[in-house]
Amino acid sequence: MTHRAQSAAPAREARRRRYLMCRPTHFDVTYRINPWMDPAKPVDTDLAITQWEKLRTLYLELGHRVELIDPLPGHPDMVYAANGATVIDGKVLGARFRNTERAAEGPAYLAWFRDNGFAELLDPAHVNEGEGDFLVTGSRVLAGTGFRSTPQSHAEAEEFFGRPVVSLELIDERYYHLDTALAVLSDDEVMYNPEAFSPGSRAVLERLFPGAVLASPEDAAVFGLNAVGDGRHVVLPEAATGLARQLRERGFEPIGMDLSELLKGGGSVKCCTLEVREPTA
Ligand code: ARG
Repeated sequence: MTHRAQSAAPAREARRRRYLMCRPTHFDVTYRINPWMDPAKPVDTDLAITQWEKLRTLYLELGHRVELIDPLPGHPDMVYAANGATVIDGKVLGARFRNTERAAEGPAYLAWFRDNGFAELLDPAHVNEGEGDFLVTGSRVLAGTGFRSTPQSHAEAEEFFGRPVVSLELIDERYYHLDTALAVLSDDEVMYNPEAFSPGSRAVLERLFPGAVLASPEDAAVFGLNAVGDGRHVVLPEAATGLARQLRERGFEPIGMDLSELLKGGGSVKCCTLEVREPTA
């Protein structure tokens, strides 16, 4: 590659990823479990599929591997694959959803992993919504609570993965999952919306990530933090132009996507993407 990162910014290297996604065949907004969802607003399922296909194609073009899980009829939110599990070192922590509307998705995702050769699986005792609330950095797991995943699920994840889990309290219902308020950019870099966290959790984030990219309220409100990075590229909602600029200054290559239809369910790029982390040799 000949591309040069901006001077002063570190050169960024992409690592090939493995993602699991779920086509929004049955996508709709028929109930309301977060403030973005309005069942009275019409949803264009075909447009959702077109926008989602573009995201999948982009991942393939970036060299990533994308696998698909069959969508369940009657489960309009199953497109948000990030919620289906958390996978680290090939170990799969299943999801247990807070809302009955999504309850059947947990076992469906767990079955996908079982059928695809994953042997170390845990069907969890406590409510956790997968990578919606568990985000993985090089050395730890950042875990959200306040709206969906419970603090007990953080302890369950720590015991299962054997990695330190840092609990973070979300306080703004618009940012009900950690992946709507924070994104991991590299092993030890994140971007986040400080206003989404309790004062104590904000202080924890400042201590752990003193140089973090901070999102403006405007960029956060267009779901700019619902982003997926491979070490070099950061795929994020295209409306988050301020974040894109900050990322470019740090040597990342932001790629804006239009997932407006999926935003009607309260999700965007990251929500549609579950990372399958295999054991590193
Ligand atoms: N409608 C879904 C819910 O409220 C959206 C999930 C978004 N996913 C995410 N990873 N934040 O559960």
